[in-house]
Amino acid sequence: MSEKTNATAWWRDAVIYQIYPRSWADADGDGMGDLPGITARLPHLVDLGVDAVWLSPFYTSPQHDAGYDVADYRDVDPRFGKLADADTMIARAHELGLRVLVDLVPNHSSSEHPWFKEALASAPGSAARARYVFRDGRGEHGEEPPNNWLSVFGGPGWTRVTEADGEPGQWYLHLFDVTQPDFDWSNPEVGDEMESVLRFWLDRGVDGFRIDVAHGLVKADGLPDATHSYADSKRTDDLPMWDQPGVHDIYRRWRKVTDSYAVEGEDADRILCAEAWVLPVESLARYVRGDELHQSFNFGFLMAPWIAKEMRAEITESLAAVAPYAAPQTWVLSNHDVVRHASRLGYAPQPGPLRMPGIGADDPQPDAELGLRRARAATTTMLALPGSAYLYQGEELGLPEATELPDELRQDPTWERSGHTNRGRDGCRVPIPWEGGDPSYGFGPSEKSWLPQPEVFGELAVARQQGVPGSTLELYRTLLGLRREHRLGRGELTWLDLGEDVVAFEVTTETGAPVRLIANVGGPNVPLPADAEVLVCSQDVDLADGLPADCAAWLR
Ligand code: NOJ
Repeated sequence: MSEKTNATAWWRDAVIYQIYPRSWADADGDGMGDLPGITARLPHLVDLGVDAVWLSPFYTSPQHDAGYDVADYRDVDPRFGKLADADTMIARAHELGLRVLVDLVPNHSSSEHPWFKEALASAPGSAARARYVFRDGRGEHGEEPPNNWLSVFGGPGWTRVTEADGEPGQWYLHLFDVTQPDFDWSNPEVGDEMESVLRFWLDRGVDGFRIDVAHGLVKADGLPDATHSYADSKRTDDLPMWDQPGVHDIYRRWRKVTDSYAVEGEDADRILCAEAWVLPVESLARYVRGDELHQSFNFGFLMAPWIAKEMRAEITESLAAVAPYAAPQTWVLSNHDVVRHASRLGYAPQPGPLRMPGIGADDPQPDAELGLRRARAATTTMLALPGSAYLYQGEELGLPEATELPDELRQDPTWERSGHTNRGRDGCRVPIPWEGGDPSYGFGPSEKSWLPQPEVFGELAVARQQGVPGSTLELYRTLLGLRREHRLGRGELTWLDLGEDVVAFEVTTETGAPVRLIANVGGPNVPLPADAEVLVCSQDVDLADGLPADCAAWLR
């Protein structure tokens, strides 16, 4: 479909809810979520008012990186069910009016993937090895890695294999865990295989894909040493493993595939969304040029500190960056890789982008009450913005990060690979509480939960918040209902100047007068216009003296 014909397509303003299958709902009581559990709980999302779901990987996997290590791209891991359960889940979601996005992991497979096993069993230089990035080592006996690249999870990015003769041999690249070998995308076999995987899931009816590590597939010719670290980079494309120009050819090819599934006269686009941690924002925007991907996560907004000036700048730059491409911007505050925003915002804000490692029991703890208050205001701000928004499971309950998990229960490879310097991402992945009192707070029929749930999850359970005025769940329902009613995601934004500590803008609506968003980002009370109708406020507060600190409201 051309840019013109999809100007009103569903994904331009969709609110997409991320399900982390391990932790959403457990039907069989083994302590790990599964597809039948998801299917049974889908009505919650209709009640909440979202348009689509994105599911993190549920494919066959040894789970060394929670499923982002795929051993079979065309099947479901027995922990999560069977392929037929995926079909049932997709069909049920569609019956309920929800679209379904699945995760595609094209940068690397699991080391248990048949291709990698074949590569290990084959000789250097063989066709089987050429599907991955195998190289001879440096040094007299090849004992040094081929270059200085590091794993994102910590430690070296290369591992040496033992060859058939029992001697140490070549090295293979893994930008993530040692069990996640990188594919070699300069080999056409890899591209053909991934296109076939795309088609496999499109044929089963999925509405799109979230593309894992979308900026990593192509590596610079010759695999030169990196001159600085990822964390210190202001431009991701000056590193030889990220954001190389060749990735865009891959996405042009995929766009043709998804477009070929378009149905004339139906709002049925199948979409592609990049997970690309790319700087600057103009480089990120290149992923959503008209003939490439539909969306790309905008992590700059997620990383903006709770400082009005920085939030305003981030929003302005984000919108300007996609404007030339007629693509919608996306907004996200939490996901399975970052500290939940109800906890992240519970620390004193520091200027500059926020990259926060996992939190342990002996680290300074966030102020839970303040964090939740700011999180509700941040979400109230985000859901007024034009474009598409992503929510992460449990944020609608105001769940905090689990900051006191015992270290011996941590499963994120980051904890080990960083030499116990980064606690990793388990704290945002704890199973969801559905009913307050039941075993595992209703996560499943047994008391089992693959990570222990903090006690506070009991009072934050869905059933405890449903219908309770002022609860975070009811705030989300109200915001999503109003956003849909006024089609705020389709609106145009105009800034309002209400002072240094305020984020304030007006968004045009399809229902008449614009809606005004006013967020008081930690400053003195902000007087509200006397004639304004308050559509929703992030806190149940008396507004007679103005909008208090760390609150946001929609006015008309
Ligand atoms: C990004 C995913 O979101 C993360 O969870 C995963 O560990 C890495 N990619 C590697 O696949």
